[in-house]
Amino acid sequence: MSGPFDPELAPLVRTAVPGPRSEELWARDAAHHASNSSPAAQWLRLVLQDGQGAAVRDVDGNLFVDFSSGAVVANIGHAPPAVARAVAEEAGRLMHYFDFATPARAAFFEALAATLPPALQTFQMYSTGAEAVEAALRLAKSYTGNYEVLSFHQAWHGRTLGAMSAMGGFPMKTGYGPFAPGALHAPNANCYRCPLDLTPDRCGVACAGLADRVVAQSSEGRLAAVLVEPVQGVGGVVPFPPAFLAHLRDLCDRTGALLIFDEILTGVGRTGPMWAFETSGVVPDVLLAGKGLASGYPISLIASRREVLDTGPFGRPGAGASTFASGNLACAAGVATLGLLADGDILANGRRVGTVMLAALRELAGRHPIVGDVRGAGMLLAVELVADRVAKTPVGPATVRRLLEALARRGVLVAGAGPVVRITPPLVISERMALAGVQALDQALAEVA
Ligand SMILES: Cc1ncc(COP(=O)(O)O)c(C=O)c1O
Repeated sequence: MSGPFDPELAPLVRTAVPGPRSEELWARDAAHHASNSSPAAQWLRLVLQDGQGAAVRDVDGNLFVDFSSGAVVANIGHAPPAVARAVAEEAGRLMHYFDFATPARAAFFEALAATLPPALQTFQMYSTGAEAVEAALRLAKSYTGNYEVLSFHQAWHGRTLGAMSAMGGFPMKTGYGPFAPGALHAPNANCYRCPLDLTPDRCGVACAGLADRVVAQSSEGRLAAVLVEPVQGVGGVVPFPPAFLAHLRDLCDRTGALLIFDEILTGVGRTGPMWAFETSGVVPDVLLAGKGLASGYPISLIASRREVLDTGPFGRPGAGASTFASGNLACAAGVATLGLLADGDILANGRRVGTVMLAALRELAGRHPIVGDVRGAGMLLAVELVADRVAKTPVGPATVRRLLEALARRGVLVAGAGPVVRITPPLVISERMALAGVQALDQALAEVA
């Protein structure tokens, strides 16, 4: 099963899931891969071969509507030909050179700068999100001379020590402590599970004051940074109200700490605009990006003011470098990705189809008591599953597994595996495919109920 395929044929499942070729290749792969693959990968045991637009194909020829964009990376669709071409052409010229400027890097910086405000025009590049988070934490220490970092419950920043230190209460941290000193955690602005038991219509975003309280009670007056996702992604698609983010801006202005927006998941059009901060009207001191910026080629970066990047130890020659940072292949993929996004059509499609999907998901929620909440913006949507709507008890992994299997049998792929089912298709998905996926979810929810 090879050669191009029409993504609009998805969902189309012809075999058992997993099919015979997936079973065979999965076993060969599993003989050598550590046993710690993500739950969804282990549950579904699909071997994926290729992708186009919003569809991926497995080795048995089954076509799946991709409701995840991989790890929220394929924002402009799978294997966009212009990006694949740009990487191949660049690879034929130069595969790697350490930290020297290249034409690809200069072009990438200009294309990226065109999407950002004047305060975020200086960049330092890396390869993975966690690496950019670590660099931002070093940068905040370097610039402020302080060391404390305030972050939020349910935040997700990556699997390195500094990033994990900033994650409040994720089971993924268990067993890896002790973590970095100076990590302060405040309750998040989760309106479905309000830390103050208030409702959004009457709360006045009172939860923002809890961040002040954590600082007042736990800080030694050495706050270097407030690190926050404008919409928490992996932690359950929790959009923070603009007033909450404005309050954090004010907290940073009062204390001299840097406001760092981790937009590794929310950037590149995921929530509607190019960057989620545009919706809030709050401009951070430091912006982190990664994931979809090069359509699958590893890339991440921090953006800030030159003065911030140049001050203190972070400004020393060589202080920001790492082997694969600012690689010309990543830059070439980034230039092509940003080029495809530049006219705004892909972003507009994400907003339009995302709105249609959100309405369809809300309609479906009324028919399924297992759905506690539906929320999100753009193509960052979520359905939170509960065993009891009043107590809001999350469903267990067995239920999530049955749901993901029921979806895969219907030709829809979801890669996350928590009780909050994250729905993050490529922004290029057609309305027909999106609604076919929602219909499959409707049937799958009925099956697991
Ligand atoms: C908001 C956010 N920050 C950081 C990361 C870490 O990125 P990576 O897995 O590329 O290290 C992620 C990954 O999901 C993320 O969602």
